[in-house]
Amino acid sequence: MDSSMWSTEDEAIITTNTEATECKRCAVELGYWKDEYICYFAKRGERKAPEINRGYYARVRAMEMFIHQFLERCGTKCQIINLGCGFDTLYWRLKDTTQAVSNFIELDFPAVTSKKCHIIKRNKQLLEKICKEAKRFNIVHLKTQIVSDLSTMTSE
Ligand SMILES: C[S@@+](CC[C@H](N)C(=O)[O-])C[C@H]1O[C@@H](n2cnc3c(N)ncnc32)[C@H](O)[C@@H]1O
Repeated sequence: MDSSMWSTEDEAIITTNTEATECKRCAVELGYWKDEYICYFAKRGERKAPEINRGYYARVRAMEMFIHQFLERCGTKCQIINLGCGFDTLYWRLKDTTQAVSNFIELDFPAVTSKKCHIIKRNKQLLEKICKEAKRFNIVHLKTQIVSDLSTMTSE
């Protein structure tokens, strides 16, 4: 999608991914939680305030807990759809556990998903975990702001 088709509002939303990823990298480097993949998606930024680090810790931990509970109930023969995935590393973190799921789909603006694909393709550690199970990981470029309009999506 041509970047001229994004509104200023879209651009502001896309920027939230860069900020979120930098904040997560900062918190991970300070030891709030472990994520050996986040460093591939964000450059080292300035140290964030403890409130920010704690906020991201709560967010990441809460999602992990919900997903863990869901997988405990449903088993791993299931699908996770990560809406507004940004540069989330959940797919790789799950792969490193016994809870890798059958199908994992990520959705975001093309500007975000293209960059994510580019980073993955250039990184052996990220790529290896996808290539071994290519059918199980899809990144989808969302060509519309209406998530329910799935017919307008393409996948890579
Ligand atoms: C704050 S970031 C969070 C990223 C990731 N989920 C995380 O927790 O680190 C929000 C993400 O949602 C995406 N997003 C928000 N609205 C969207 C929409 N209408 N269509 C596609 N992506 C959207 C943004 O591009 C951005 O990557």
